[in-house]
Amino acid sequence: MSESQRAAGRVASVMQEERVFPPPAEFSRRARIGSLADYRRLYDEAAADPGAFWDARARELPWITPYGRVLDWRPPHARWFADGRINASAVCLDHHVAAGRGGKTALVWVGEPTGERCVMTYAELLAEVCRLAAGLRSLGVGPGQVVSIYMPMTPELVIAMLACARIGAVHSVIFGGFSSEAIADRNHDAAAVAVITADGGWRRGAQLPLKANVDRALASPHHPPTTVKHVIVLERTGQAVEMVPGRDVWWRDLVSGQPTDLPPAAMDSEDPLFILYTSGSTGKPKGIKHTTAGYVLWAKTTAEWVFDLRDDDLFWCTADCGWITGHSYVTYGPLAAGASILIYEGAPNAPHEGRFWEIVEQERPTIFYTAPTAIRSFMKWGLQHVEGRDLSSLRLLGSVGEGINPEAWMWYHEKIGGGRCPIVDTWWQTETGGIMMSPLPGCTPTKPGSCTLPLPGVVPQIVDAAGDAVEQGEGGWLVITKPWPGMLRGVWGDEARFVDTYWSKVPGKYLAGDNARQDADGYYWIMGRIDDVLNVAGHRLSTIEIESALVSHPAVAEAAAVGRPHDVKGEAVAVFVTLRSGNPDDALKDALRKHVRQQIGALAVPDDIRFTASLPKTRSGKIMRRLLRDIAAGRETVGDTTTLEDYTVLANLRSNDE
Ligand code: PRX
Repeated sequence: MSESQRAAGRVASVMQEERVFPPPAEFSRRARIGSLADYRRLYDEAAADPGAFWDARARELPWITPYGRVLDWRPPHARWFADGRINASAVCLDHHVAAGRGGKTALVWVGEPTGERCVMTYAELLAEVCRLAAGLRSLGVGPGQVVSIYMPMTPELVIAMLACARIGAVHSVIFGGFSSEAIADRNHDAAAVAVITADGGWRRGAQLPLKANVDRALASPHHPPTTVKHVIVLERTGQAVEMVPGRDVWWRDLVSGQPTDLPPAAMDSEDPLFILYTSGSTGKPKGIKHTTAGYVLWAKTTAEWVFDLRDDDLFWCTADCGWITGHSYVTYGPLAAGASILIYEGAPNAPHEGRFWEIVEQERPTIFYTAPTAIRSFMKWGLQHVEGRDLSSLRLLGSVGEGINPEAWMWYHEKIGGGRCPIVDTWWQTETGGIMMSPLPGCTPTKPGSCTLPLPGVVPQIVDAAGDAVEQGEGGWLVITKPWPGMLRGVWGDEARFVDTYWSKVPGKYLAGDNARQDADGYYWIMGRIDDVLNVAGHRLSTIEIESALVSHPAVAEAAAVGRPHDVKGEAVAVFVTLRSGNPDDALKDALRKHVRQQIGALAVPDDIRFTASLPKTRSGKIMRRLLRDIAAGRETVGDTTTLEDYTVLANLRSNDE
């Protein structure tokens, strides 16, 4: 490998942050892990003998049949707790009810229309999960079959996930903001047999047509005839929907008369629990596969460590269950840990921009976990929405989804946390199943913008493109060198892509796809993606999906999508488009935006559209996104342009700047 290839993995860092915030003494005194020495002991224990370490923790789970070996690792394939039998819904529900905690609040739900609220105990949640599970089974849904879930953030979304788990069906939650084509893609890729949805969902006072989107997806002309046999419809908004006889059934009719005590299916530790689609740099979204025992153990253990859950906590993770954060820290992690969760259906700015703080005042959550993009929105909306609200219930704050810039960190710390709440900046991914690096709130001094140190069991390394460790302080590719229980087990139906994306560039190590560096204290600083994946408002979007959506419009010949810095969203989508026909005017821009919204969803709608006669390409025909990124950000182009095919293209793009 040449020096320049090797250097490809290395990245320069410009970030400097000297501030350090020790954990508050009051917090440390009561925390599960209250000193750095305790953390180090745990970390070293896990590193020295992972088998014994995870065995000790897995034993606390309610096994139906005990496992044989803790880990069978044949890179890149891991089997954790092989041959054990367990059920994820029983870990989250029956286990607590059997221990006499059935009367404890499992969830508090706040609806978008103000005034709507419901509370469910563990026993009540278990009963509802059993009823839906029995209903699904009565439709013929069984172990290993895939059920798509496309719902608003209601208790029924959590119930639907756990009901699938109860009968061994594999859930695939599709975020309610995705379009019918995105649903059709996912149903088709996973060969889903059923879809659980709602008539509609509330979003800033408007009604989302969820059922109508599902109907369109099932009739998509761009896919083979659908594999979906059943559609279960929750009545949420009361809007009119069409029910197809023999295919569609109302949730309430399906669960009526069903037993409230359906025994959980005995699933193998390595049976799939769910698929979650996420963007990659090439091709269609990947169905990330997570299995049962290792995932649930990881979600539970990390929730306990990072959020320091106590019996009297009310944990508010603001993520939608359409994303991995909602899987691991709304549903599986906190419920497996026996915590009480708070769920809110609506947007943070509906009906007003202080809605979250009103909810904190009313419901008194103790832990609040959100995304930097939300924090930046709060900053923009102004302090008047925060001041005067009683936020004294909060004792811990968390951040996830992208790097949190120090300015937003400080604002969060001071204005929301009142200077007294530790902040856990948690680095992880859909693929990792749960948090990998994060401060532990009772012991880790924090630095704004750093996810600090790896959790016990996580062994990261920063390497160059040859796979060799870089010098301390230098940026490079972040890899994870040892298996961990929550790791992905594959890409649904695509073994080659699994091996290729995650395990082949640095053989035998998991390539996270992020750049990172380590500072002199050993703290990790995430420096962004190494591929062309965008991170818009904390959600991964692949450039290729946006480009394909644009090119499917009749006027478009070619398109390139890049990210540019955005104050609130972190990254905004900027696209460069060459036309086949039509006029390069605002009307066409509007039409293209509408088209992307239809094809993918609102999240992917480009902020900037630039028409250009051609795109800058390398001699091998690759679009030079690095140059486009500079143009989109309004930066002077720096770096090597020797492979650029046609310099005039660049000059033209610049002069067309809006
Ligand atoms: O680039 C990293 C960024 O989000 C990516 C994972 O995205 P996704 O699978 O959608 O999961 C998001 C929720 C876990 C990562 O590869 N990312 C996530 N958390 C952080 C982060 N970047 C910096 N700091 C974080 N705390």
